[in-house]
Amino acid sequence: MTATETEQRTTYVGRPIDRLDGRAKTTGEAKYAAEHSYPGLAYAALVHATIPRGRITGMDTAAARAVPGVIEVLTHENAPAMKPAPKQSMLNLSSLASGTSVNYLATDEVHWNGQPVAVVVAETLETARHAASLVRTTYQELPAVVDFASEAPNATPQKSNAIAEAGADKGDAPAALAAAPVAVDLLFTTPPHNHNAIEPHATTAVWEGDRLTLHEGTQNIAWLRSHLAYRFGVPERNIRVLSPYVGGGFGGKGSVWAGVLLAVLAARATGRPVRLALTREGVYHTVGGRTPSTQRVALGADADGRLTALIHTSVSRTGRAGGLPEQITSASRHLYAAPNIHLQQSLVQLDALPNTYMRAPGESIGTFAVESAMDELAFELGIDPIELRMRNEPERNPVDGKRFAHRMLREAYALGAERFGWHERDPRPGSMRDGRWLVGMGVATAYHPSWQMPAKVTVRLSADGTVVVRSAFHEMGMGAATAQTQIAADELGVPLEAVRVEYGDSDLPPGPGAGGSAQTASVAAGLVAASRKLKQSVLALARRSAGSPLRGRKLDDLEARDGGLYQGSRGETYAAILTRAGRDHLVAEGGVGVLGFLAKTIRDRRNWVKAACGAQFCEVRVDRDTGEVRVSRWLGVFDVGTVINAKTTASQLRGGIVMGIGLALSEETLVDHRTGRIVNPSLAEYHVPVHADIPHLDVHYLGEPDPTMPLGLIGVGEVGITGAAAAVANAVRHATGKRVLDLPITLDKLL
Ligand code: MOS
Repeated sequence: MTATETEQRTTYVGRPIDRLDGRAKTTGEAKYAAEHSYPGLAYAALVHATIPRGRITGMDTAAARAVPGVIEVLTHENAPAMKPAPKQSMLNLSSLASGTSVNYLATDEVHWNGQPVAVVVAETLETARHAASLVRTTYQELPAVVDFASEAPNATPQKSNAIAEAGADKGDAPAALAAAPVAVDLLFTTPPHNHNAIEPHATTAVWEGDRLTLHEGTQNIAWLRSHLAYRFGVPERNIRVLSPYVGGGFGGKGSVWAGVLLAVLAARATGRPVRLALTREGVYHTVGGRTPSTQRVALGADADGRLTALIHTSVSRTGRAGGLPEQITSASRHLYAAPNIHLQQSLVQLDALPNTYMRAPGESIGTFAVESAMDELAFELGIDPIELRMRNEPERNPVDGKRFAHRMLREAYALGAERFGWHERDPRPGSMRDGRWLVGMGVATAYHPSWQMPAKVTVRLSADGTVVVRSAFHEMGMGAATAQTQIAADELGVPLEAVRVEYGDSDLPPGPGAGGSAQTASVAAGLVAASRKLKQSVLALARRSAGSPLRGRKLDDLEARDGGLYQGSRGETYAAILTRAGRDHLVAEGGVGVLGFLAKTIRDRRNWVKAACGAQFCEVRVDRDTGEVRVSRWLGVFDVGTVINAKTTASQLRGGIVMGIGLALSEETLVDHRTGRIVNPSLAEYHVPVHADIPHLDVHYLGEPDPTMPLGLIGVGEVGITGAAAAVANAVRHATGKRVLDLPITLDKLL
């Protein structure tokens, strides 16, 4: 189907429909995980280790126990055992879910400064937190490695595995670099980052016998349920995870961290329903963040700006107690048509809380480095940075010659340059001024892979014409459920108001995690398949009746509209068909299971490189005396396939850009090099952008469906952050002449 046909047929897809959960959220009607009350509810608080590595030699809990209202103090000396975390394996959901390998409160070992070592359960939140502050722990310290910068030179090259490539080699990049008439060779560093969702992680855990009800804002209900079933030794069917509202996730609510495990443990140990709402500091100490990195990008080119060599290597870190390598050099596999390419990721392990997914893990900081280097090469060559990119735009995937399923980067840059007024840019650094401000304009390429995950969806059609869609997916505030409502209404030809989408509950058919920018496409695939099956069933019912105008018709000749199936003016409503057949409702299921997912992924990988891409345009103003950087204009043009909801899609892209501006200018977790302790675990000292830091973000998308993806969809959750930090750095370079290689770009680096 061509794009034009899709547009003609659809009624809701593409429109800027308000989020259906918006009202509940803005009026306070929405109940988050820490807002569910139960009779006898008790409150938990964590005690954190204060050394980076060692053994606990003693815990004095007497003062905490003496506080009136304290119910229990759980430590490794008295806590009931959980099963240790399973060994990580691709085929085991519960193992993938594990944030760390630590068996909390079953060990005297400390693996990072901040690891939970005790849980206090009390009648009130205040009592629990106060008593937690009275627990005294003594340690035998062991030598710890906590400083990334000093450890990075000892990194071990990472090996590729079934899901991720850790390197790539084509031709002889070092030799080509040495022979190149023009070259840049730059060393970048990026700091660690921590998660700061509006809602800190929170759990309400209720055991009834060996059945557990859990209120938890999670990005992955299936992983969480499977992991808890394993750790607590109960069947999955005994656990119900409810997650109708999530106050932001960004990857930090994808894995299972200490908070939920210890809340469930505390509820089991005390026989009380338990609520554990982490403090902001508690999130920094128990939920992983983004790895720091060092990256080398070396580019060689001929005098016309054609790349002859591209080298991108990185060092990142995991924790000794877990963490997955982030794909820092992965975008460099796809960006430029260099004949000689060398990519390699290396790793160090620190005595630190393991890293985790954080919006475009790897790609966000990897594109900062490679896209800054391309910009520097443009300055060296005296070629416009967009023109340089277009001269190196590949027809096929540079490292292996595979086809691109979709790639409209030329169109994105062309549209962006026109709308942003790129021709007004004087290429000479420091040449554009506005009073005391130095003005700079920069561009960078955004790039993020596109995925489809396993997901099952049921669609139920009632005789009154209403529709219920069910799938255990996640609404973190991105408009996921609104998008599926629009799709269902169009697939079945019913009004939006006739559709109710149920999500965020493990009792529903298994949905995908909200991760990898893959949720909407994954659920849509199941929803479209289920809707088709449902229409087949309706048609079969109609054809059994002699009087039906649909007798002898085939589904492919019919149109779903006006609450029924029609060919031209001939047809009838679902209500008429079901009522005549004496049916109260019909249900159909669709979707891809794990085996189907693996088969499709392997087939797709052989044939295609799938991704979202885009062109980021940034204008900055830099105070010539203080070095203060303000982002004054932004434009992003993205190739993200079919757009389901114009409003929420733009918001997702904008959210990514905002996070990218934070990455560029302010976000940085500061770690004490002696103790491994995070010294700025609060929004007062860890600076995320606020409204005053962000101008209007002008966002466009090209709207061409990707022919290899369900409904032509490409994910939008993460691509917005990629390239964003480089666009800022490149604008700063243009404004000031200074190339900042070390994020964040704070004013001291510009003086
Ligand atoms: Mo994400 S980092 O896939 O929530």
